[in-house]
Amino acid sequence: MKKIVVPSFLIFIVVCVSAQDNASIKPGAVWPDTQGNHINAHGGGILSHNGVYYWFGESRPVKGEKDRTNYGVGCYSSKDLLNWKNEGLALRVINDTSSLLQPGCVIERPKVIYNKKTKKFVMWFHHELKGQGYKAALTGVAVSDNVTGPYKYIRSVRPNADIWPVNFPEEFKKTSAGENDLKSWSDEWVKAVKEGLFVRRDFSGGQMARDMTLYVDSDGRAWHVHSSEENMTLHFSELTDDYLDFTGKYYRVLPGESNEAPAIFFASGKYFMFTSGTTGWKPNPGRLATADKLTGEWTPLGNPCRGTEDENKVTFGSQSTFVLQVPGITNSFIYLGDRWIPEDLANSRHIWLPVEWESSIPVIKWVDEFTIDKSGVKILKTKAVQVSSSNILTEKEIAEGWKLLFDGKTSSGWISAKTGKFPASGWEIKDGVLSVNPELKKEGEGGDIVSTGIYRNFELSVDFMYTKGANSGIKYFINTEAENGSLASIGCEYQILDDVNHPDAKAGFEGNRTLAGLYDLLPPANKHDNGPDKWNTAKIVVNGNKVQHWLNGYMTVGYERGTPAWRELVAKSKFKPVKGFGEASEGRILLQDHGNKVFFRNMKIREF
Ligand code: DGJ
Repeated sequence: MKKIVVPSFLIFIVVCVSAQDNASIKPGAVWPDTQGNHINAHGGGILSHNGVYYWFGESRPVKGEKDRTNYGVGCYSSKDLLNWKNEGLALRVINDTSSLLQPGCVIERPKVIYNKKTKKFVMWFHHELKGQGYKAALTGVAVSDNVTGPYKYIRSVRPNADIWPVNFPEEFKKTSAGENDLKSWSDEWVKAVKEGLFVRRDFSGGQMARDMTLYVDSDGRAWHVHSSEENMTLHFSELTDDYLDFTGKYYRVLPGESNEAPAIFFASGKYFMFTSGTTGWKPNPGRLATADKLTGEWTPLGNPCRGTEDENKVTFGSQSTFVLQVPGITNSFIYLGDRWIPEDLANSRHIWLPVEWESSIPVIKWVDEFTIDKSGVKILKTKAVQVSSSNILTEKEIAEGWKLLFDGKTSSGWISAKTGKFPASGWEIKDGVLSVNPELKKEGEGGDIVSTGIYRNFELSVDFMYTKGANSGIKYFINTEAENGSLASIGCEYQILDDVNHPDAKAGFEGNRTLAGLYDLLPPANKHDNGPDKWNTAKIVVNGNKVQHWLNGYMTVGYERGTPAWRELVAKSKFKPVKGFGEASEGRILLQDHGNKVFFRNMKIREF
């Protein structure tokens, strides 16, 4: 292979686009550091020291690099919070396979605090071990004499081994028979988790520590706040005087509420905490809680976002990481969050948004651009963002076996019922929605699409929105290969129709061609239709020969296939000529292109 030598001055030109002078903060945009590179410090936090701000965060590999683990903790400095100089890696992974901090480990959500007594800077971070995914659930600690580092790695631990939380009732300390075998998310399991199931399980090995932050209280005591108990409960663990270890005093906060990404601040005599739910890299509705004392009781105050319904559902496409006090301005704060790009983590965006006050409640509103100067935050441009809140599975749904049938971005999992390839036109994927778009359809393209997967016993849930006068449908038990493909679009159909404006609603028998019915066979009961241009939710449940249709939480159709009554019904329908209609034991799912505009999202399925 011929080796090409690139002159070093060219590399410099590629990496360092231009020196930057930022006059404002634009949430969600590339944020160039003073060398012109996007700031690579994610899940981070900011330390103010001697008039300079230091931003510590995950330094992630750039796109294309083999794994998503990082090189260490990045550090940037700034005097104005707008322009940040890259100070290099404050903590580096250690090139030694006997070290827990070896390359390939995961370092997340690092935070640094200053210890006035020891005059040392102390860094804590969430630490996962090489090749073990998120199993280890450790927290690591490192220390330095200089704020920018290098930080010396000390150790990683699961905190508070052999110690009960302070607020743990005596009766919770006893293990009950079979509790470790309870089915995840069953009522009994949720109750047991709230009552300390995982605290008991991890008592001797130490409590799990994943997403974390640090908080130094007004008395100088530092607290390590981390998602513990399989991410179900936050633990507030007190640090020793030197901040390098745990004292063993710790509190459970919001037990069983599944919070991560904690970010704490204090205003007008109250503690506030932003957190998120637990949906991996995908954003979810933000959460706010308040307390009179740091160690609780914490009271949930709901979602702090004040945007559109879609924006609130995904916290403006972000996950909290820190709250920054605006320099010199009482009760003025900035929310810091991450808009994760899991396939290119280094490029994840920083969502900084001014905190506003709704009487005494801190809230977040979207702004396109703002700046910070001596007089505080100045909003330069406001505009609603369009972010999709769809196509996300919660941890509960994942545990229940749900799988997304549509990832919100690509046609993965769907092909044309006829050609085996996804249609080149006629279907559109935009803003997390898959739609039949006849305006884009070219001659001979479009047409029905089917799932690549074949399903036997399943529960399928799909949000759909039909436009005025539209016709479409969700078919199941589809066999695209049978009879040389001539039956590729034949199957039982959950009808999608604008009953008011489409004439087919009046055809057939007794409404058996209307929305949520079994097309041309059974009319729907209990119909709660949201109407055209509104989202509806369809559910289809197949359990052997028993099938149900649901619309917006109401069962509309229930039937049993293969019975004499079923065959009689088919014989009266347009499916009479199709041998064994609707009796296949398995098949693909089909979305119908009937030439009308119809939208689909949140398509998920679980098999049993
Ligand atoms: C959510 C956490 O908040 C992130 O820090 C990261 O650990 C991702 N999960 C990984 O899926």
